[in-house]
Amino acid sequence: MPLESGWSEDKSLLDPFAGGGTIPIEAALYARRIPWFRFRSFLFEKSGIVPKDVTERVRGDLLAEVTEGKKINAKGIEKFEKHVKGAWKNARSAGVADTVVFEKGDATRLGEYGDVVVTNPPYGNRIANPRVVYDLYHDFAERAADVGIPTVTTITSRWKWMEDALREVGYRIEKSKFVLYGKLHTHLIRVVLE
Ligand SMILES: C[S@@+](CC[C@H](N)C(=O)[O-])C[C@H]1O[C@@H](n2cnc3c(N)ncnc32)[C@H](O)[C@@H]1O
Repeated sequence: MPLESGWSEDKSLLDPFAGGGTIPIEAALYARRIPWFRFRSFLFEKSGIVPKDVTERVRGDLLAEVTEGKKINAKGIEKFEKHVKGAWKNARSAGVADTVVFEKGDATRLGEYGDVVVTNPPYGNRIANPRVVYDLYHDFAERAADVGIPTVTTITSRWKWMEDALREVGYRIEKSKFVLYGKLHTHLIRVVLE
């Protein structure tokens, strides 16, 4: 998702609904050129289709590009302490705890901002009154515009609500594209402040 937002390593990235921290962690993995196979193996490796020495050479070449201790400005804010702890744990497992920051905070009271906000907010699918999410999107959008966040990229199954909330406070919709997210129908939306 960070790359969908127009983010690059020289820009700061903020995820104000960070949950388990996937988005800042993805940015850190990308910036440090850490390949996915560091965490998993692929079926083709066991199948024998690709000779083992070729796989090992490619692994070696890619791992040689990993940079240690690279600093980027990627931060996640999360309302609940248990998720903040979970995000730090995930960052440690991914080997990027020195590259990202997670803090407890409220997306509707952002006091600072990044060049780029990239976020996956709650969808309200598991609560009795999804209107709570409608209000949350409006409060977040209002705060984002107030503190002058230049661009927001977000993915949600309630995309009409999010688009309206962002449009109402002065964002222009640059992109809104359908994404099948697991079994959920969602849109990835990118907006810029006019
Ligand atoms: C869909 S989840 C984010 C998933 C995340 N991308 C991940 O990697 O796990 C949305 C998160 O927003 C958090 N949240 C809800 N209201 C919030 C608020 N006002 N401020 C900050 N975080 C909030 C929830 O606790 C939840 O962890």
